Amino acid sequence: MVIKFYDIFSKLICLFTSLFLSACSGNPANNQALKNGYYKFPEGFLWGTATSSYQVEGGIINDWSTSGLDAGKASEHYEKFEEDFKAAKGLNNNSYRFSVEWARIEPEEGKWDTKEVEHYKKVLQSLKANGLKPMLTLQHFTNPVWISKMGGWGNEKILTYFSRYVKYIVNELQGDVDLWITINEPNIYGFKGYDSGEWPPFKKDRNLALQVMKNELVAHKNAYKIIHETDKQDSDGDGKNALVGFAHHVAIFQPYFPANPLDDLQVYFTDKAFNDAIMEAVVTGVIDISIPGAESAKSPFDKDLKGSVDFFGLNYYTRWLIKSSGERLANESSEKNDLGWEIYPEGMLIALRKVNSYASKLNVPIYITENGLDDGKDTKRSKYIVSHVKKVWDAIQEGIPVKGYIHWTLMDNYEWSDKYGPKFGFMTIDRKMRDSANIYKEISGQNGLTRDLLEKYGVKQ
Ligand code: BGC
Repeated sequence: MVIKFYDIFSKLICLFTSLFLSACSGNPANNQALKNGYYKFPEGFLWGTATSSYQVEGGIINDWSTSGLDAGKASEHYEKFEEDFKAAKGLNNNSYRFSVEWARIEPEEGKWDTKEVEHYKKVLQSLKANGLKPMLTLQHFTNPVWISKMGGWGNEKILTYFSRYVKYIVNELQGDVDLWITINEPNIYGFKGYDSGEWPPFKKDRNLALQVMKNELVAHKNAYKIIHETDKQDSDGDGKNALVGFAHHVAIFQPYFPANPLDDLQVYFTDKAFNDAIMEAVVTGVIDISIPGAESAKSPFDKDLKGSVDFFGLNYYTRWLIKSSGERLANESSEKNDLGWEIYPEGMLIALRKVNSYASKLNVPIYITENGLDDGKDTKRSKYIVSHVKKVWDAIQEGIPVKGYIHWTLMDNYEWSDKYGPKFGFMTIDRKMRDSANIYKEISGQNGLTRDLLEKYGVKQ
């Protein structure tokens, strides 16, 4: 359990850099953007919402539905996608993130369901017709039943099957997708499915959880190569072929008792394993996911892993205060969402700085691929959006290349083991638009935030 000197040193440098940068918030770029009368985002900035197949489509048979967590009809998006995309267009959005369901496309090993492929082709056509740039996720927590029977992501055999699925579906859908997301949140999936045991396959084996994260990284690297070998089209005519990345969940971890060095130490290790290890791996080409007391998941330098992203996707939701025991708690005095997660907009900027410390090494941009809250009464969502988007703007003023903000989510849906309790949507399941949608519509429509909006929600200018 030796903390290397250079790690502490680099932390201090980061701290110094972030202090320095916030002291520079009155820089010329900042003033330039403000001269236009509002907090304007760069031209071509993407505004959208995100969903995932199992959470919204309905009628899917996969490793969740057969494990007692059946989403049933979900939000019936499989049938209602046309009207949903019209609604997204009505929010002035120019982008939409969604996932395709592996279990639909390959319900039995090696058997491809062309009817389902046609469905996703129609989805892509409809997105195009509504002016929504697709951001397509290939794996968002769910698997075909036959994959789970052979050990799922805990068995390295999945790598061969995942690559074959990626090759098949990318070949079918190429030309209509600009932004490919290989895998959603390897860290959340690894820990929830294999460490805390909350999600299928309900394992409580930390060693295996770290291996799962490693397998997902290797699967991502393979998919990155396959997508670039398969999809050589510039589908939106921006002069670039498809871009490939993954969506990474970054949580802010801070000590529960700042004066307790043991809490600090726990924060250090949690942060490294949960937030940094995955980004570090694609930057260096070396996998090293370690937590004291568990067997590390490692692999030596791999030239194909190094630099295997054209962008980083950031999913940011909240901050956790960590005790030396590993327990994580929401800050008692802060405002929370209905799930008890702290509303902490400052964390958006902290997370972006962290992601950019890796992205800048590869010279690649960042997209916010998820950010949102469970707010059934819709009393907190508007302020949440304004305050988080303002932090994205602040990050851009620091020179962090953020290219889009994709809010989670368009409509209420099946929220994994919390089922239908949480309400993250701009719309209810019966497609009633909540008031906060108007705020998002305003922001997307004017590509930025007005001073009035910031004042209205008491967000610091
Ligand atoms: C996941 C989503 C989920 C959201 C809210 C993210 O970690 O990618 O699928 O619905 O969090 O819990």
